[in-house]
Amino acid sequence: METIRTIAWMKEKAREARLEQRDIGFVPTMGALHAGHLALVERARRQCSPVYASIFLNPTQFGTNEDLSEYPRPLEADMEKLTAANVDALFLPQAADVYPPGFSTYVQVDGLSDRLEGKTRSGHFRGVATVVLKLFEIVQPHYAYFGRKDAQQVRIVQQMVRDLNLDTEIVVCPIVREPDGLAMSSRNAYLSDEERKAATVLSRALRAAETELAAGVRDSLELQRAMHKVLAAEPSARVDYVEIVNAETFEPVVRVSRRSYAVLAVHVGKARLIDNLLIEHVGDELKTEL
Ligand code: PAJ
Repeated sequence: METIRTIAWMKEKAREARLEQRDIGFVPTMGALHAGHLALVERARRQCSPVYASIFLNPTQFGTNEDLSEYPRPLEADMEKLTAANVDALFLPQAADVYPPGFSTYVQVDGLSDRLEGKTRSGHFRGVATVVLKLFEIVQPHYAYFGRKDAQQVRIVQQMVRDLNLDTEIVVCPIVREPDGLAMSSRNAYLSDEERKAATVLSRALRAAETELAAGVRDSLELQRAMHKVLAAEPSARVDYVEIVNAETFEPVVRVSRRSYAVLAVHVGKARLIDNLLIEHVGDELKTEL
């Protein structure tokens, strides 16, 4: 695997691949890679050649009181994982090159960015959209791979692609979980052994919603109540939000009728964890996917 540290060289590589009519697949990450990230790479590998990944701990998507300074940075282990996963090149830009002095242009996806994660983490999605657009401009991918784990993020990226007429197709991949249901996340590294056990409360709460849905419940308040009940039984969990939202708008719904998400954000110890359940109709039947 080649490691590319400059924007100019990454652009040149991508330009060559485009000229050769090859399909560029791209997996943007912030590093501390786990099986969730690697599933995106595998999906890209099946569809594209070359496959490029990036590791960039993007400062503009972190709030001043957030965990940028503590965020894990196991670069060597990450590079081994990407090499083993047959990534052709790793793009590893420097913050000073991505945001040089005087940088002043940002991408703001209105509406979608103000709710849920955007409400709690002010400016977060502006930072995400800005860096993703910059990465797309540099890497010029035909396909870019994102996890449903960050459902609101991928919806915002899709909106940006549509609004700005970008030539990148967004591929959404399923959530990869630990055997006990916890969604894989770089932030799980913050959890003590005890907190790690408590953190299964997110997927347990979503399972409770799934059970209610299977029993025919469609009322959002009732579904939220079922989730809150599970969360309340876990003393080390502090709930940020629990909602049922429309999958397009991320606005709350009163009843589940269209494609929706049950979404939640919960503090466990010093980690803030998110998870979601996809709810969709297939024909007349309601289908859920954790
Ligand atoms: P990061 O948190 O490193 O995640 C990179 C990609 O991996 C995202 O698309 C995320 O949704 C996906 N991912 C994380 N955990 C996953 C899991 N358990 N299962 C499936 N996919 C998972 O998200 C970011 O970085 C950044 O915001 C980024 C898009 C790179 C912009 O800076």
